[in-house]
Amino acid sequence: MTEEQLEKNFQNRIDAEQKIEPREWMPEKYRKHLIRQISQHAHSEVIGMQPEGNWITRAPSMRAKMVLMAKVQDEAGHGLYLYSACETLGINRDELVEQLHTGKAKYASIFNYPTLTWADMGAVGWLVDGAAIVNQVSLQRTSYGPYARGMVKICKEESFHQRQGYEIMAQMAKGTDAQKKMAQDALDRFWWPSLMMFGPHDSDSPNSGNAIKWKIKRESNDVLRQRFIDKTIEQAELIGLTVPDPDLKWNEERQSYDWGEIDWDEFYEVINGNGLANRQRVAQHKKAHDQGAWVREAAKAYADKQKNKEV
Ligand code: 3HC
Repeated sequence: MTEEQLEKNFQNRIDAEQKIEPREWMPEKYRKHLIRQISQHAHSEVIGMQPEGNWITRAPSMRAKMVLMAKVQDEAGHGLYLYSACETLGINRDELVEQLHTGKAKYASIFNYPTLTWADMGAVGWLVDGAAIVNQVSLQRTSYGPYARGMVKICKEESFHQRQGYEIMAQMAKGTDAQKKMAQDALDRFWWPSLMMFGPHDSDSPNSGNAIKWKIKRESNDVLRQRFIDKTIEQAELIGLTVPDPDLKWNEERQSYDWGEIDWDEFYEVINGNGLANRQRVAQHKKAHDQGAWVREAAKAYADKQKNKEV
């Protein structure tokens, strides 16, 4: 078959909702698009462990500490599934990590904001994991088989994470004045960055055209962002917190909220490496990676030994 026929067959399979599997033919652009998205997703899971890991030693109770530790550990697992899915596309883990360390690969902008108080653990779980779920539920139907299957398990765990965060916020919102203030302050700082997690508006999103055509993305950045806003406003009201957007208004006709505008200059500054914590996050990852070199060497030596035994 010619390249053109192969591409036509490929698109027909996508249109017929068939999953594409690792050994099957795929256009080079599709493979590269997936490597970019899945690896950035994996990096986000792993870098996301830092702002929360930062609070494990300072959790206010044994229960809170155990729950937070479990959550942070889940994120490492999510990174593992996603790196594995990415490796099925013909790239290895070392290259992916190198891309993260050199700034070639991005990771979610949200993790470049510092976590200043315990209420931030609530805001991160409630808003950040909440936004991640809205996006990831949709990705369970993505066209690449390993990515779609990984998403199913990840979504189950993200639901637990969202509830963990909301529970913290709800508790603090009905606590002392100081606790309520802390919860509101965390919501004030994390609201807009959470909306940025969905990426630029559809009209400014260079990757969306192919992503939608190939059913990598099943819904657009703006559609998912609006769904998250509509869900979350009611949750904030329920616990007596106020979303920091003076333009927020219920639109009867659209049956949805109208809302203000994201500071896109801030968004681009952060994704281009100039957020409050970008340098710190990457430096911390490099340090941990270097310190873990002996573990990787030992694991590889053990695997090689087992392989030689089999031969
Ligand atoms: N943070 C960092 N970079 C972002 C971004 C964000 N919030 N939103 C967009 N970008 C980047 C894109 O990566 C792209 O850059 P690149 O071409 O150099 O890769 C550029 O901005 C233009 O954006 P597009 O809309 O064209 O890019 P996409 O089509 O890839 O859409 C996306 C961006 C919606 C984030 C999409 O990639 C996606 O759905 N990814 C999978 C989900 C994901 O990565 N989630 C991370 C959330 S955090 C998480 O899951 C951890 C959990 O524990 C909370």
